[in-house]
Formats: sequence, structure tokens, C-alpha cells
Amino acid sequence: MRKKIKNNVSWVGKVDWELRRFHGEEYSTDNGSSYNSYLVEEEKTVLIDTVWRPFSAEFVENLASEIDLNTIDYIIANHGEEDHSGGLPELMEKIPNTPIYCTANAVKSLKGQYHCDWDFHVVKTGDTLDIGNGKSLVFVEMTMLHWPDSMATYLTGDNILFSNDAFGQHYASEKLFNDLVDQCELMSEAIKYFANILTPFNPVLRKKLDEVIGLGLTIDIIATSHGVIWRDNPMQIVSKYLDWSKDYQENQITIIYDTMWGGTKKLAERITEGIEQQDPTVVVKVYNLAKTDRNDVITEVFKSKTVVIGSPTVNNTTLHSIAGFVHLMKQMKFKNKKAASFGCYGWSGESTKILREILQSAGFETMEESLRNQWKPDEAQQSDAIEYGVKIAKM
Ligand code: FEO
Repeated sequence: MRKKIKNNVSWVGKVDWELRRFHGEEYSTDNGSSYNSYLVEEEKTVLIDTVWRPFSAEFVENLASEIDLNTIDYIIANHGEEDHSGGLPELMEKIPNTPIYCTANAVKSLKGQYHCDWDFHVVKTGDTLDIGNGKSLVFVEMTMLHWPDSMATYLTGDNILFSNDAFGQHYASEKLFNDLVDQCELMSEAIKYFANILTPFNPVLRKKLDEVIGLGLTIDIIATSHGVIWRDNPMQIVSKYLDWSKDYQENQITIIYDTMWGGTKKLAERITEGIEQQDPTVVVKVYNLAKTDRNDVITEVFKSKTVVIGSPTVNNTTLHSIAGFVHLMKQMKFKNKKAASFGCYGWSGESTKILREILQSAGFETMEESLRNQWKPDEAQQSDAIEYGVKIAKM
């Protein structure tokens, strides 16, 4: 059902409380999500974005109970990905001639996904659409934030930026606005979303944020396409994005390992002791990757200045859990972070060297020396691990 945002602007989206994995199985959504669609009713009636495909029938039915679908003058498709455009095929069956405003790349993505021939109107940054009552929509291309087709739409008069994926969170709430939800949960989901989805696009993001700020638009509300809408101090999330996009790090060292018989785990614990001994001011976090959500660990990597990765040697290489995770770290294109590797072995012992090479290829500055331990660490070897932690803290 519709919820009022401001004046003649309403939310007509879907809150998905059940969602636990997103982008296939790639992203954990422990707090669900939402697909925010908006209705603007001035002299012209405008629908901005829709919902994910599984909810398309419910979306169109709800919308039809609120307004006569034939009164929709314009549809704005800020982004072609299915979680926002998934309602279009069902909707366009009912109103096939309604014009759709989107970027040139969005035409490609919508045609590619839905094999449709709708009435597309391509827009570029700065193009406007008059919707009556002295208000208009201004389009801002958000290329690579996070798809080539992404766009934001600004509503003059009400000063609302419909930002699509940017500034979102995978966070289900019936409360709709940022000032009405638990602030710790909200910021935790916002940073996880940034770390896992937007980090690879940091250089583009910094330029785009400067460009949007340079437009001098008064922004009273940032209406995202996932999670809650920023109406209380909306620029707080813009300020966070500026910080996060500048190769962000805190005074944190994160140790990530997997283990078969506990030897590599023992090393992780002793390394932690050494770091704490050398620098009690540093935050140290330790994760057994096999027992921890990988997207939460990526968020911790995002916050870290140094990452220490451990795996025993198995069949002349690392455990596949660690190899997959380092691949994910590489996808994120982290910059300005250091790394070290460690692990136990029984016979050949290649894992630490392989880890160091993968970490280097992922853009991390690695410590020359890895901690490579044959069999279970005895007392002397555990002391070596503490000393290795001291060196990491000094790095
Ligand atoms: Fe929320 Fe890029 O889709």
C-alpha cells in the first residue's frame, strides 16, 4: 500500500522481510531488503522504478488499487537490474504505450533482459522533464554506480533525489525513514552495502559525488531504491560515502583463516596476541571463514588497514574457502591496505606463498615474510607466531 513521502510523492514499493541472499547467493541480507518504487502525482503522474520480478504481480495489483494505471504519464527506469525493473513486463502489458525515460545503456539492459519494444526516451545528465505545477524531473547519469545504465532523478520543488542503488541498504523496515529505525542497524547495513557493492567503483564514485555536489541541488530527501529513505540530515550518508570512497580504513587489523585440525587456528590466536602485545590501541578481529558470513568479513576487510590470511596446505595449495574469499577480495579492488599470510603444513607447505602471491595480485602490499609452520605448533613455534604478530603490528 502507498505511503506518503512528501506532498504528492508516495512510496509504492515492496518490503521483503524474508530475503536472506541477494544477487543469487552472493550477498547475505540478514535484515531483509526492500524494493522502493515511487509515485509522483503532479499535473503529470510519474512512476519511478518498480520492484523485483517475483513481486511484480503484487506490485501491479497494489498500484492498480491506488490509481488508474492509464493515468500514468511517464515511467522513469533509473536502473535496469531486475530488482528495480522486474515489475515492468507485467505493468507494460497493461499500459504498453506509456513512455519510459532512462539512459541509453538502460535501453540495452531492459531490451536484453525482457526482449521488449517499449517506448523508450533516452535521457542524459541535465535533461529535464516538466511534470506540471512548476515542478520538473532532472536526470543525472550515475554510470558505474553500480551499472553502466544507472541514473538518479531529482524532483525540483520537493528537492527529492531518487538515487536508486546509491545510498541504499539491504534493510527491511515498515518505518520507511532513517530517523525512525535503529541507527546501529542502519549504519551497519549501509557500510556493508558500500563495502560489498560499491568499493570496486570508488574512483568513479568520488568523481560522481563531486559532480552531484557541484550541481548545487538542494537535497531535502534522498529516496533510495533499497532500505530506508534519508530525510533526517540526508547529507550524512553523502558525507559517509565521501569518506568511504577514499580508500577507507580504520585502526583495525583483521585475521581471517580456515583450519583442518586446529594448527592454523592456533597460529591465528597467537598472532592476535602478538598484535595486541605490540599495539593495544589497534582493534584486532579474528574470523574462521568457514564459520562466518563472507560479506560480513568483507566489511571488516574494508575497515582494516592490514589483513592477515591463514590456510593450511592441502594438495599443494590453499583450502578452497580461503581461495574463494581472496578472489572476492580481489573483486573489491581494495587500495592502500597491507597483508600477511600464515598457515600450517605437514608435507609440502605451499599455501603461504600462494596466498602471498594472490594477495599481491589483489593489490595488497604484502609482508615479505610469511609464517609457515610444520605440523602442530609447539610452544616455541607458538612464541614465533606471537613474534610474527608483533611484526605485523609494527608493519
Ligand atoms: Fe538494486 Fe543494481 O540493483
